[in-house]
Amino acid sequence: MTQIRAAITAVNGWLPEYVLTNEELSTMVDTNDEWIMTRTGIKERRILKEAGKATSDMATEAVKGLLVKSGTAPEDIELVIVCTITPDMAFPNTASLVCLKAGLSKAWGFDLNAACSGFIFGLETATQFITSGKYKKIILVGADMMSTIVDYTDRTTCVLFGDGAAAVLIEPTSEELGVMDTELKTNGIGGQYLNLKAGGSLKPITAETLANRENFLFQDGQNVFKFAVKSMADAAEAVMTRNNLTGDDIAWLVPHQANKRIIDATAHRAGLTDDKVMLNIQKYGNTTAATIPLCLWDWEKQLKKGDNLILAAFGGGFTWGSIYLKWGYDTK
Ligand code: ACO
Repeated sequence: MTQIRAAITAVNGWLPEYVLTNEELSTMVDTNDEWIMTRTGIKERRILKEAGKATSDMATEAVKGLLVKSGTAPEDIELVIVCTITPDMAFPNTASLVCLKAGLSKAWGFDLNAACSGFIFGLETATQFITSGKYKKIILVGADMMSTIVDYTDRTTCVLFGDGAAAVLIEPTSEELGVMDTELKTNGIGGQYLNLKAGGSLKPITAETLANRENFLFQDGQNVFKFAVKSMADAAEAVMTRNNLTGDDIAWLVPHQANKRIIDATAHRAGLTDDKVMLNIQKYGNTTAATIPLCLWDWEKQLKKGDNLILAAFGGGFTWGSIYLKWGYDTK
């Protein structure tokens, strides 16, 4: 019997127009371009400034463009998975809003929260729906409006994040393409080092939580860094070893864009030179669930059908992992 695999058959991204540079940040907090560049590799990031716009609007733009690009009718989409930690509201879920705004009238959908690992967790999830044989067209979105949970008085976090969204179409294939293997992990240890304390059922927002600035993202950068460097590299190595892949077999490493130093360490462990590493952190910063699909979108024209890609991510939870993906198409 022919094995059905799940392949990415189109990708599209969307970014807000406003560019927040390191120079502008250095007028807001005590920081400078040199510190940010050497510690993170980030030069600028995009911020959604338009009043009344939210994560679902960025996701919808990415999805609408994806449908046009791939020549797909909105009513042919069966399932939408939106990976985000910055939903428009606690409920309804962002996927429902995307279905409405993008006219996906026959789809059902849900949000997936795995912080910066959202996209790879979502890709594994979508793969299970496709390989079950029941689903033929799934849209997977990574979208985050990090500017809504970042404290722009805290120099240790506000320089890191940006807003953005990207979507992929996932379809079945009987060719040796698509998701080949995955290595995904979650532990609860990361909760103490990376969190947003207020606004959930544990600590609803009160005057006190606002005064303590607990409605903003908290990160113990050094501890997160230590875990991230090891875990991302371990996961990429595990998936490569299991599939007998060396650096020579890999066309591209597609790493989550949190910090250039973490990306360099992962590439080194995987035996990959810089020219095989997708890197756009300098222009978008960390867009959380959107970083990996935004890389695929930026590099789409250079990708060839059958290219071996290693996706790797690490984020809040902690959550982390790696996916071995054979690229599904040549760009026309
Ligand atoms: N500008 C200038 N100085 C700064 C800044 C800044 N923006 N931020 C911190 N500093 C200072 C600190 O106050 C500290 O000063 P001190 O020595 O006088 O106390 C000094 O710089 C060094 O600070 P560190 O925290 O040790 O800096 P580090 O080299 O660890 O870099 C960073 C910080 C970039 C945050 C790094 O720790 C990191 O990348 N961590 C991992 C991020 C990550 O992967 N997150 C996971 C994904 S996010 C998600 O899931 C939502």
